[in-house]
Amino acid sequence: MIPLSSEEFSQLASHIESISGISLDRSKAYLIESRLSRVVRELGLTSFRELHSRAVADLSRTTEKQIINAITTGETLFFRDNTPYELLRQKILPDFIGARTRQKRIPATLRVWSCACSTGQEVYSIAMLLKEKLPQDGRFRTELIATDISDAALDKARVGKYSTLEVERGLPREKQQRYFVRDPDCWRIRDEIRAMVTYQKLNLLDDFSRLGKFDIIFCRNVAIYFSAVNKAQLFRRLENSLQPDGCLIIGATESLAGATTNFITKKYLQTYYYGLQE
Ligand SMILES: C[S@@+](CC[C@H](N)C(=O)[O-])C[C@H]1O[C@@H](n2cnc3c(N)ncnc32)[C@H](O)[C@@H]1O
Repeated sequence: MIPLSSEEFSQLASHIESISGISLDRSKAYLIESRLSRVVRELGLTSFRELHSRAVADLSRTTEKQIINAITTGETLFFRDNTPYELLRQKILPDFIGARTRQKRIPATLRVWSCACSTGQEVYSIAMLLKEKLPQDGRFRTELIATDISDAALDKARVGKYSTLEVERGLPREKQQRYFVRDPDCWRIRDEIRAMVTYQKLNLLDDFSRLGKFDIIFCRNVAIYFSAVNKAQLFRRLENSLQPDGCLIIGATESLAGATTNFITKKYLQTYYYGLQE
């Protein structure tokens, strides 16, 4: 590993926060050292100081991409924590179907956004569930948008190929059989599920209003990496991306505490989720 001085830590941590929102305090210096040493070497550089100078000077933003691919934590799994998916199955989808039917807004399109989708397990879990739980008689269409800041994560998500270890983390055996094809070296998600999702690169610090309004937003396990200020701003901006009766689902260990927003907390069984003030 290439040694990281205190000054280099400050420069790189502040650069990383400005390009991604990811806030690293000094206890996370090892992350920069362990994850970015390879980038320093791959670029033929010898120090983190040189990496910082190169990142700032590189107008093509290739160095920025390499830093983001290396520093982001893509930890994810199919049906992570299970409860958000039970919430979707038992409450949010029946409510959506009931509301649009009563409002006579049929055919209806259910728009879902996985806003830090990593390698795709979250949005593919949602897609499998929608395939099973939304009536397939033409009354309901779906639009699933999945975004992330990491090109490397998005590339893998788009391909939809997973190792045995990855599919065995969280995916019920019956869904593995039904929705995956066994290739010689991996499990490949079936095209019918893959085709339900559109991927785009998106930095959550940037304006995302062009994506339009959603019925369901999954914003899970990304704001935990942000400073309190960036986290609060993100959740306030997400309000504008939600339909009036839409809902926001965050990570199992996360909360909106400290972020002044117009979200109201809802609870179904043991699961909290968020909607807009009525
Ligand atoms: C721990 S993963 C969470 C994946 C998934 N949502 C889940 O809960 O399983 C965090 C993801 O956030 C992405 N990320 C970090 N900063 C981001 C930003 N500013 N904009 C968009 N995505 C970001 C990372 O690239 C990574 O894929």
